Amino acid sequence: MGGPAFDPRLIAALRRASRVTVLTGAGVSAESGIPTFRDAQTGLWAQFRAEDLATPEAFGRNPRLVWDWYAMRRAAVQQSAPNAGHLALVGLERIVKARGGAFTLITQNVDGLHAAAGSQDVLELHGNIRRVKCFDCGRIAQRWEPTEDPPPRCALCGGLLRPDVVWFGEVLPAGALRDAWVAAEECEVFLSIGTSGLVEPAASLPRLALRSGAVILTINLDVETRAAPPRFDIQAKAGELLPALVGAMGPA
Ligand code: OAD
Repeated sequence: MGGPAFDPRLIAALRRASRVTVLTGAGVSAESGIPTFRDAQTGLWAQFRAEDLATPEAFGRNPRLVWDWYAMRRAAVQQSAPNAGHLALVGLERIVKARGGAFTLITQNVDGLHAAAGSQDVLELHGNIRRVKCFDCGRIAQRWEPTEDPPPRCALCGGLLRPDVVWFGEVLPAGALRDAWVAAEECEVFLSIGTSGLVEPAASLPRLALRSGAVILTINLDVETRAAPPRFDIQAKAGELLPALVGAMGPA
């Protein structure tokens, strides 16, 4: 039984593109068992409003509550594994690079699953829940001393540690954002996968690529909340569609 039939123009564009850029959102990790932000309104977020937790003010008011909420999410992430969609994006990167092309994966996700799957050039626009940083001096750490009274303390200055993720009202990492902008402006094909396209500045990237003449492919479950008006728009689960798409492109 064959997979989905792809528009030959899309496959031709993917085969000849010297630069491919991908933007992912929480929908790519949904099949790894990690609730998305909008779906999670009935899950992780049901008991809290985002403003109650994911802001510097919330951490300043109640560091223990914010730390514990992220510790719970980090534990879920650490028990999750990359799914077929993550792995297909590794395959796509290999195909594009094997022919001398450039490939950039921009993610809004903080779960680290793209890197765990083997993606090389990942731009984490919203940070990574597996890392922490000091709320006072900003020092980043991958490990920390456990404590009976969380949050743990910074080894350098003794300040409180927080997750190394972008909170509401905070600026994004300047280097990652700059590189993402360039990757969107310079690509010939831009894939927007599993994102509602509601949060800036990530949501502007597909429009930037479109203005620069790129072919836009949007893969999402909810075609209502998709990113920029795509040239190609496929309503499907990322973990099912992406392996078929990469397969349709032919060997690396
Ligand atoms: P959302 O939860 O807003 O959107 C996830 C999208 O993925 C929705 O449009 C779903 O329909 C779609 N989806 C769900 N399961 C899918 C699947 N298996 N395959 C394909 N699509 C699927 O998550 P994001 O767009 O990532 O920011 O949210 C963007 C940002 O909003 C997050 O990074 C976070 C939040 O505020 C910060 O924390 C700074």
